[in-house]
Amino acid sequence: MADQRAGRAHWASRFGFVLAAAGSAIGLGNIWKFPYITGQNGGGAFVLVYLGCIVVVGLPIMMAEFLIGRHGQRDAVGSFVALEGKGSPWCLVGWGGVAASFIVLSFYAVVAGWSFDYVVKSAMGTFPGRSAGEINALFGGLVSSPLQVVFWQGFFVAATVSIVLGGIRGGIERWSKVLMPVLFMLLVLLFVRGMLSPGAGAALDFMFRPDFGRLTPQALLDALGHAFFTLSLGAGTMITYGSYLHPKSDLFSLSVRITVLDTLVALLSGLAIFSVVFAAGLEPAAGPGLVFQTIPIVFASLPFGSLLAFVFFVLLAFAALSSSISMLEVSVAYLIDEKGWGRKRSTFLIGSLAFLVGLPSALSFNVWAQVTPLFGKTFFDLMDVLVSSYMFPLGGLFVALYAGWFWKGEGEKEELLGGRHRAWLFPLWHFLLRYVAPSAVLLILLNQIGVF
Ligand code: PFF
Repeated sequence: MADQRAGRAHWASRFGFVLAAAGSAIGLGNIWKFPYITGQNGGGAFVLVYLGCIVVVGLPIMMAEFLIGRHGQRDAVGSFVALEGKGSPWCLVGWGGVAASFIVLSFYAVVAGWSFDYVVKSAMGTFPGRSAGEINALFGGLVSSPLQVVFWQGFFVAATVSIVLGGIRGGIERWSKVLMPVLFMLLVLLFVRGMLSPGAGAALDFMFRPDFGRLTPQALLDALGHAFFTLSLGAGTMITYGSYLHPKSDLFSLSVRITVLDTLVALLSGLAIFSVVFAAGLEPAAGPGLVFQTIPIVFASLPFGSLLAFVFFVLLAFAALSSSISMLEVSVAYLIDEKGWGRKRSTFLIGSLAFLVGLPSALSFNVWAQVTPLFGKTFFDLMDVLVSSYMFPLGGLFVALYAGWFWKGEGEKEELLGGRHRAWLFPLWHFLLRYVAPSAVLLILLNQIGVF
């Protein structure tokens, strides 16, 4: 392992790492998915469960993933090999992560592609002067065209590939440092605009006044699954990113920072979007089109609206990119570390495969909209449910069980604390990992399949 460590690329700075990992966490999950599933699940109570899952399940598992990756100093599979030896069943957890991050990349590229199309639409001044209804129809026009959707999906995969080709420091870290701060500032602007609009009160009410009567088993599962999705957990990503960390970094404060940033972005986006939804009399449960149908409406009525809409969609596209590069990096790191392949060959291969596997998802909004192979869901929805509701939570569950109960490595405690004296931290973390996180995941999964 010593020579592995010596020859391996590492993040240039701690700040760069936080931004790259936050870049992975912050993406379509926060700005596109969180508002739309909050809308579908009735608001407040769902948000509360989601926040609970972030703190007691997500954060401790994120720390465990960083720890495993940093200790193993290899990709998601190789880190378990380094810790437990080849052939250990725990390597399956790494494999599950590689598979999940690959599948999520395949359909994520479809939605990310829409944001590129909206960059072009806003650059051409398509939104100002249009009614809410017309803006709604624009979205329908885009997704019903297989050619446009597949074109943008391919474009997005190609962009992801080109960044991952640059490697850790030159590609991922350098881009994240610029993109994330700008995204954050723009979101604050949108949030302030939303709070000054007539829909602000209704938005706050919708998101923060819990109505527990609306908490279905499905809502619980969605909240849990989304906590994993939004923090990029159970996907091998944080193990892989952790493997590029220096041995002395303080994992606790890094994880807290990333989690706080991620949650803040989700809440800001939710409030910004729901203020528009309520001010314009739109439907909060509109589904996957929500952000594309509301944000252009806010901007259409603002001075410099076209410019702002343009900047917003550029940033949405970039937020998606800083996440998709982390998905691609999981499989690429596997091929580099375990198979000895070059970065170029690995990146091209996985990128092309992800594009092909993503095609049925792209067609789910148009020519295959009526094709529902299982449970009455389109291919896109099936892929989403498969990874978000099952693969990520199960991956996270096994990471928790491993780090909480089975890791025999000495120095787990010292590594976590990074030489700092926080007497309360290790026992609390261990307790959450051993009991709380696994029971939450199990209860919610069993509840969903109707055991209770
Ligand atoms: N966390 C990303 C988002 O919220 O958009 C999505 C994601 C990235 C999921 C990386 C999984 C992953 F491995």
